[in-house]
Amino acid sequence: MSLLIQNGEIVTADARFQGDVLCRDGVIVAVGPGLEIPADAEVIDATGKYVFPGFIDPHVHIYLPFMGTFSKDDYVTGSKAALMGGTTTLIEMCCPSRADDPLEAIKLWKSKAAGISSCDYTFHMGVTRFDEGTADALRTIVDDEGISSFKVFLAYKGAFGIEDTELYQTLSLAKELGVVVTAHCENADLVSETQKKLVAEGRTGPEWHEPSRPISVEAEGCHHLMTFAEMTGAEVYVVHTSCIPAVEAIVEARKRGVKVSIETVAPYLTLDSTYAELPDFEGAKYVMSPPIRAKEHGDFLWKCLADGTVDTVGTDHAPFDFSPQKHMGHPDPEKCVDANGQPTGKPGNFTLIPNGIPSVEERVKLLYTEGVCTGRIDLQTFVRCASTRAAKIFGLYPRKGTIAAGSDGDLVIWDPEWKGKISAATHSMATDYSAFEGREVIGRAEMVTVRGKIMVRDGAWCGENGWGQFLARKPRIS
Ligand code: URP
Ligand code: ZN
Ligand code: ZN
Repeated sequence: MSLLIQNGEIVTADARFQGDVLCRDGVIVAVGPGLEIPADAEVIDATGKYVFPGFIDPHVHIYLPFMGTFSKDDYVTGSKAALMGGTTTLIEMCCPSRADDPLEAIKLWKSKAAGISSCDYTFHMGVTRFDEGTADALRTIVDDEGISSFKVFLAYKGAFGIEDTELYQTLSLAKELGVVVTAHCENADLVSETQKKLVAEGRTGPEWHEPSRPISVEAEGCHHLMTFAEMTGAEVYVVHTSCIPAVEAIVEARKRGVKVSIETVAPYLTLDSTYAELPDFEGAKYVMSPPIRAKEHGDFLWKCLADGTVDTVGTDHAPFDFSPQKHMGHPDPEKCVDANGQPTGKPGNFTLIPNGIPSVEERVKLLYTEGVCTGRIDLQTFVRCASTRAAKIFGLYPRKGTIAAGSDGDLVIWDPEWKGKISAATHSMATDYSAFEGREVIGRAEMVTVRGKIMVRDGAWCGENGWGQFLARKPRIS
């Protein structure tokens, strides 16, 4: 069975033209104007629509044991939500605790997706400890488990965070293996000391989350990683970059020859720090780390996308319910609950609010509405930062991230005229709230295919759980 998409405006990171796309057996076999219609083809008329390569979210959490609870989505809801929004490939963070065995962890994370995910997926391997056994385990994960990127946390000491000697060892091994190391850059000690000080002063509401992790703390984390990358020669990728001084620290390192890519995430581009200041604990919905910054930082990040300084836009999708999960940090003893929703009878504080915002479904339409429609970025930059760059950095290109003969038939037919509103009442994510409730959006993924199979038609779900495949990747050198 083949699929022929006719008369769309095909947009990739480096080309834009009117034409047809033919997929057979899951793969794109021809791209161009006036393609012949095969006898077995389903023909889709894309007149007046854009045809984009399937979008790639390089930073999501689907299974995440974190801050005393678990993220809300599983691969049924998470991959459906991704596809409804036009994202056809997820790169999830495999985040074992320090006590866990890395090989068992990657197998566990894979088991959460295998046979369930409707979109394709792969993982960054979290390195949350480095001891005598770690190098061998990581070599096996790279050689036998198809993983070619690691993840380290400079934040969250005592949970996922690693010490400097461990960071050095991880980066040295990554350099040897040709693996990219993704990193959460915030100085953990500065965060915990500032948190203690603020809580002792009675500053306990969600609005104090940002001041507890100010821009200088993130910039220090970036500078720190840059020094280690420079010393070891490892290629690094800074996840969820939120602010001007963090980008500046990275750009300085680029000038010194450090090979580093920059990711920002949809919440930093489309929300600002005033959301965490909303009354009645509403601000808890916007607690993520690094925190959402003042508007000038978001404006700067848009400019950095337009000029190519920032490489990718992910989500850092980390979904927790407003109730009960975010209420684990409610300062009112009458309203503070444990992970099961049972009252604690004690006051919580912002340090106990599970960090994260659900957004895997909304990333592409937010980028389109607030980036392309406002003229902040052009269409090809949109495709580059939401798909192609991630594919190139993480070893998925040209299988993913473009529309070309030989690439997977992952396509998004985009209706640029559609107008609607974001709401938790209609989203596919499992969370009880949307951080973008009521936000007006322009454009939607009208049809989405994964390896030639239609998963979304007329903006409605018609996909199949289990259709998604694990994407084995190889390091750049072996
Ligand atoms: O707040 C966040 N970002 N939660 C998810 C974990 C992480 O740091 O990526
Ligand atoms: Zn992080
Ligand atoms: Zn994350």
